[in-house]
Amino acid sequence: MQVIIQPDSEQASLLAAQLIAKIIREKEKPVIGLATGNTPLLLYQLLVKMHREEGLDFSRVISFNLDEYLGLPPEHPGSFHHFMWKNLFSQVNIKPENVHIPDGLTRNIEAHCQQYEEEIKAAGGLDIQVLGLGTDGHIGFNEPSSSLSSRTRIITLFDQTRKDNAIFFESEDQVPYHAITMGIRTILEARICLLMAFGEKKARAISLAVEGPVTTMVPASALQFHPKAISLLDKEAASELRLTDYYQWAYEHQLPEWREF
Ligand code: GLP
Repeated sequence: MQVIIQPDSEQASLLAAQLIAKIIREKEKPVIGLATGNTPLLLYQLLVKMHREEGLDFSRVISFNLDEYLGLPPEHPGSFHHFMWKNLFSQVNIKPENVHIPDGLTRNIEAHCQQYEEEIKAAGGLDIQVLGLGTDGHIGFNEPSSSLSSRTRIITLFDQTRKDNAIFFESEDQVPYHAITMGIRTILEARICLLMAFGEKKARAISLAVEGPVTTMVPASALQFHPKAISLLDKEAASELRLTDYYQWAYEHQLPEWREF
């Protein structure tokens, strides 16, 4: 896994925005996997700015979000539909028919999840998947104990995850207990996995995911199997890593033709 440590989340988000913009410019039909939460917020603001100031064109972009709460209508302020339209989609020229987010109100969860997988395949697979990190090591909503071969499915959330995400709701008891999430296998099939984590409260999960053993107990550790997984961190999130000097050294000595950043 490539580990890139930046002095702060602003500089890390800028690198992420530049990578995604490059994929959008270069690909005929860019397929971008997106995440919710506080972590990618600045990345989305930067992409909006690039759209406005540099004409970054989202009209060919096909997007797939990682997850959605079960039981929430798209207009619910806590839903990931609401989050994505508010923070990105409504401010760029993406075509609504190219936006994919699991339907939290689906009546046939299994069929819907299978269809989601098929839609990703039909689009040509994900060129990049942006990932945040749960404090318990989850990616998407793949909580500890999730199968490393899991695909899009229903999951029961950890109590800690519900607590962590309560800020997007009026009160904690409004946070749903279930969600639909891309599986770990689904995520690992993206051509690039970009894990973003900022702040001290992610430091432990990052050290386990990046330098610990691969285990279902830390779902993000499955990224160690990915040929092109990048952890993009600020100093605080990297503070419990052991090989920080090496990561920095390797970043500074990248061969120009191998550079993503
Ligand atoms: C939720 C999302 C995850 C996200 C995580 C971290 O659980 N399902 O995809 O990575 O929140 O959120 P934050 O970025 O707010 O720390």
